[in-house]
Amino acid sequence: MPALVLLGAQWGDEGKGKATDLLGGSVDYVVRYQGGNNAGHTVVVGDQKYALHLLPSGILSPGCTPVIGNGVVVDPSVLLSELSGLNERGVDTSKLLISGNAHIITPYNVTVDKVTERFLGKRKIGTTGRGIGPTYADKINRVGIRVQDLYDESILTQKVEAALDVKNQILTKLYNRRAIAVNQVVEELLGYADKLAPYVADTVLVLNQALEQDKVVLFEGGQGTLLDIDHGTYPFVTSSNPTAGGACTGAGVGPTKISRVIGILKAYTTRVGAGPFPTELFDEDGEALRRIGGERGVTTGRDRRCGWFDAVIARYATRVNGLTDFFLTKLDVLTGWEQIPVCVAYEIDGKRVEELPYSQTDFHHAKPVYEMLPGWNEDISKAKSFSDLPKNAQNYVKALEEMSGAPISAIGVGPGRDETIEINSFL
Ligand code: IMP
Repeated sequence: MPALVLLGAQWGDEGKGKATDLLGGSVDYVVRYQGGNNAGHTVVVGDQKYALHLLPSGILSPGCTPVIGNGVVVDPSVLLSELSGLNERGVDTSKLLISGNAHIITPYNVTVDKVTERFLGKRKIGTTGRGIGPTYADKINRVGIRVQDLYDESILTQKVEAALDVKNQILTKLYNRRAIAVNQVVEELLGYADKLAPYVADTVLVLNQALEQDKVVLFEGGQGTLLDIDHGTYPFVTSSNPTAGGACTGAGVGPTKISRVIGILKAYTTRVGAGPFPTELFDEDGEALRRIGGERGVTTGRDRRCGWFDAVIARYATRVNGLTDFFLTKLDVLTGWEQIPVCVAYEIDGKRVEELPYSQTDFHHAKPVYEMLPGWNEDISKAKSFSDLPKNAQNYVKALEEMSGAPISAIGVGPGRDETIEINSFL
């Protein structure tokens, strides 16, 4: 069973870093297949805490080869500073591989992201401002810059010219900003070429050969299912496909090779940025979840919006990803509530709806229908097996499993690497 996909089953920030890192010790390759430095993984190893944005979590596991796939968008300055930050802390990053086909987040993509959001005013998406959307837009418009372009100055110059041709018109005439000079961008990008060269590879070939040799490959999704450009709460989404199919296109591996798809599911729900969120709390419970769960963005430092667990969303994630298992995270955060509400369905215009409505208008009007589950007070962070959990915590997990449509194979009971209950092995 060599190829696993691990992805967020909600709106991102489910604790994927911990899950991927947990598997990292036993896998040969950890691959990012979409997104860029809009992601943020926190990985705690011993007393060390690492915040990763662009690099796959596998970078912290010595035996593992971390791969940035073709579907990722790469900001070279962020990548290089993340690498040197890790090197300073003694982490060996020399095994990293970057696809020559991955697209580069250029300085003008970052500018366009920021000015567009400002221009949208109250209709803004609440992006991370890292240039993600404009870079993917350039890719689809066929005016993107790829990592391999850094190694052909003439091609690079032509491509930057083509991209800036239209953008400078928009920047100067619509947004009232200064035009961006082609030669400045080219010079900056060429400055990254030598530093990135040791890592650039034909990652599609490498990964397919690895799979032929029965190596274990883990595909690590950024963001989450409901932020998927096709299957998320469009337009309040990111500009790539975090869902399972994205692993195939974003890494160049066929769907027949994928053996397991694991959804990371937080025991409650959070969201960053704008967009609908039926179980969002605006009261002290929401504040408590934010405080106890440390719900502040690793990438942006923004407070996350918090709410109760939403089983409608979990069922949807099971369906669009073909999930085989769940990894339930942050169960410990719910310790101390007498009763825990869980959203089992929505009420939309007076009707009970069991599945996620495909209509954006309906979803914006969805009100959660809650079932109350009894809570627990015992500290669960030392639990090593399912039976160590208090009965009510066990019942909470079992209820979520039944409502969500896939088995829960692991449970996070604390932030540390070892604070995890494994029920079924992922490998
Ligand atoms: P973008 O990906 O920067 O374009 O932002 C689009 C939307 O996705 C915004 O609502 C962001 O807050 C959200 N988003 C992007 N990356 C993450 C993530 O890693 N976790 C949670 N939300 C994210």
